[in-house]
Amino acid sequence: MEFKNITFVKEGKIGIVTLNRPKALNALNSETLRELDTAFDALYADKEILAVIITGEGKAFVAGADISEMKDLNTIEGREFGILGNKVFRKLENMGKPVIAAVNGFALGGGCELSMACDIRIASVKAKFGQPESGLGITPGFGGTQRLPRLVGEGMAKELIFTGKIVDAKEALRIGLVNRVVEPEQLMDEVKNLANTIAAQAPIAVKLCKAAINKGMQCDIDTGIAYEAEVFGQCFSTDDQKEGMTAFIEKRDKCFKNS
Ligand code: CAA
Repeated sequence: MEFKNITFVKEGKIGIVTLNRPKALNALNSETLRELDTAFDALYADKEILAVIITGEGKAFVAGADISEMKDLNTIEGREFGILGNKVFRKLENMGKPVIAAVNGFALGGGCELSMACDIRIASVKAKFGQPESGLGITPGFGGTQRLPRLVGEGMAKELIFTGKIVDAKEALRIGLVNRVVEPEQLMDEVKNLANTIAAQAPIAVKLCKAAINKGMQCDIDTGIAYEAEVFGQCFSTDDQKEGMTAFIEKRDKCFKNS
C-alpha cells in the first residue's frame, strides 16, 4: 500500500506502521490521520497479521497534531479535527489485534495520545512524553484527558496536562506510562520479539483478552466479570482452544489456526 505520510509493511505475522513525515517530526495533519485510518482498516482486514507495531521515522514518534494546520481553525473545524483524530485512535484501540507502540523519540500531544491508544508502549531512552497543549491554548484533543488519567492516575495526569511538562523515558517508566525502556538500537528488535511472542499465542484468545481488558477498564467490576465469562465461554467454540489444550496433554508443540 502506498501512502504519502506513513509506511505500512508486513514482516511475517507483524504489521508495521511508521509515521514518515520526519521534516515535521511526524506531526499529525488531517491527511496523515486519514492515511492511518486506511492503514488500520487494512491491518484489521489482513488475516495473516496477528500483531501491529506503530513507530516513527527520525527523531520523533509523533510531535503532536499539526500546529500549522490547527492554528486558524474555528470552533466547528476544531471540533471536527478532534473528532477525526479520536475516531482514528478509537479504531486502533478497538482493533481486534494487539498493538505495540515503539516510541523512538518525541511523543508529545497527539503523539503521546497515539501511543496511549496502543495496548503496550516500549520506549527508547531517547523518547520524551508530554501533553503540552495548555501552552498552545488548547486542551489535549485526541483522547489525552481520558487515557492519561486511566494510565497514570488522576493526580499525575492533571500535573502533566496542567503544566505541559515533558518527561523523559525514565520518568515515563516510573509513572507507568511505558512498559520498559531500551537502548535506541535495540528498540525495534525488542518490540518485534514482543509482537512475535504475542503472535504465537492463540489469536482469537488474544483478541478476546484485549476486548475484555478494554471493556473492564471502562465499567464496574461485575459488568467486567460478566463480560469475561462471555468471552471465556466463546473460546471453547474455537479450534485453537482444542488445539492448545490437546497439544498440552500430548506434550507436543501447538499449531494455532486462528479459528
Ligand atoms: N506541528 C507542526 N509542525 C511541527 C510540530 C507540530 N506539532 N512539531 C514540530 N514541528 C515542525 C517544526 O515546526 C519544524 O518545522 P520547520 O523545520 O519547518 O521549522 C520541524 O518540525 C522541526 O521541529 P523543531 O525545529 O521545533 O525541532 P526541535 O528538535 O528544536 O524541537 C520539539 C522538537 C520540542 C518536539 C518541538 O518541535 C516542539 O515543541 N513541537 C511541538 C510539540 C507540541 O506542542 N505538540 C502538541 C501539539 S498540539 C496537539 O497535539 C493537540 C492534540 O492533542 C490533538
